[in-house]
Amino acid sequence: MKRLMISKLLLVLGLFLFIGNTSVAQNKYIGAAKCKMCHNKAEKGEQYNKWLAGPHANALKSLKGDDASNPKCLKCHSTAASVDASLIMTLKKDEGVSCESCHGPGSAYKSMSVMKNKEMSISKGLVVPDEKVCKKCHNEESPNYKGFNYEEYAAKIAHPNPSK
Ligand code: HEC
Ligand code: HEC
Ligand code: HEC
Ligand code: HEC
Repeated sequence: MKRLMISKLLLVLGLFLFIGNTSVAQNKYIGAAKCKMCHNKAEKGEQYNKWLAGPHANALKSLKGDDASNPKCLKCHSTAASVDASLIMTLKKDEGVSCESCHGPGSAYKSMSVMKNKEMSISKGLVVPDEKVCKKCHNEESPNYKGFNYEEYAAKIAHPNPSK
């Protein structure tokens, strides 16, 4: 009983430390379908379609059998399985590596008035990803690591807005 109390206390303490260190910890994951509403026009680069056809949206399909439910694999192959369940709003389990693994959870930046302003979006949790973001998953902990060259890899998944 006493031990349970202590472990609960430690959990609460840990949570406080965690929140104190990450100012955007309360932002929640809304899933790719929400981003699609504004980011799938051909003239603006149809980011959703590009993601859907690329390696990240399909990352769960590489996990066969028991691996498909192994947290050690899911931590890099699934956004939904790699973030705290309490932070999931409308993100779906089958999205694989979704937009928000690279761009940050979208609940606070997803509205048009915020998104139109890049600085404001960033202040509300939008991440403009760089090499460091990729290396959270593209590293030697991956059993299938093939090395990582940012320029080369970024070009393979590029989804720029040609109207900009
Ligand atoms: C209500 C519409 C809307 C939604 C929903 C939305 N966006 Fe945006 N987003 C925009 C607009 C408008 C811009 C400004 C540039 C443009 O016109 O495409 C933008 C810009 C961006 C940028 C570019 C920032 C830069 O470098 O200039 C990124 C990245 C982005 N959005 C990601 C996302 C992601 C990820 C989601 C879902 C979690 C999302 N957006 C949801 C409308 C939206
Ligand atoms: C949350 C983890 C995660 C992050 C962050 C991530 N990736 Fe990936 N990436 C993966 C996984 C998992 C695969 C393998 C998908 C599959 O085939 O199952 C992959 C595959 C790829 C591939 C295809 C490689 C191949 O062998 O064909 C490219 C290219 C790529 N990622 C680029 C990037 C870039 C660039 C970034 C950063 C902007 C990035 N990734 C960020 C998890 C991630
Ligand atoms: C640290 C992150 C990470 C972990 C953990 C991880 N993967 Fe991956 N996985 C990746 C990345 C990134 C790629 C893309 C390969 C590359 O380009 O390096 C990938 C690719 C793959 C592929 C495609 C193989 C290929 O040759 O392209 C399979 C299958 C796979 N992983 C299975 C697994 C399994 C099974 C586990 C758990 C035992 C696992 N992964 C754990 C990040 C990870
Ligand atoms: C694997 C990481 C990764 C994933 C997944 C990802 N993006 Fe990106 N995204 C990037 C990178 C890297 C850039 C380029 C950042 C820069 O400007 O240097 C980018 C740029 C963008 C831009 C700005 C384009 C421009 O030229 O202004 C938008 C909009 C965007 N992403 C939306 C999305 C949406 C929507 C999804 C999901 C449907 C998504 N991204 C998934 C890594 C990712």
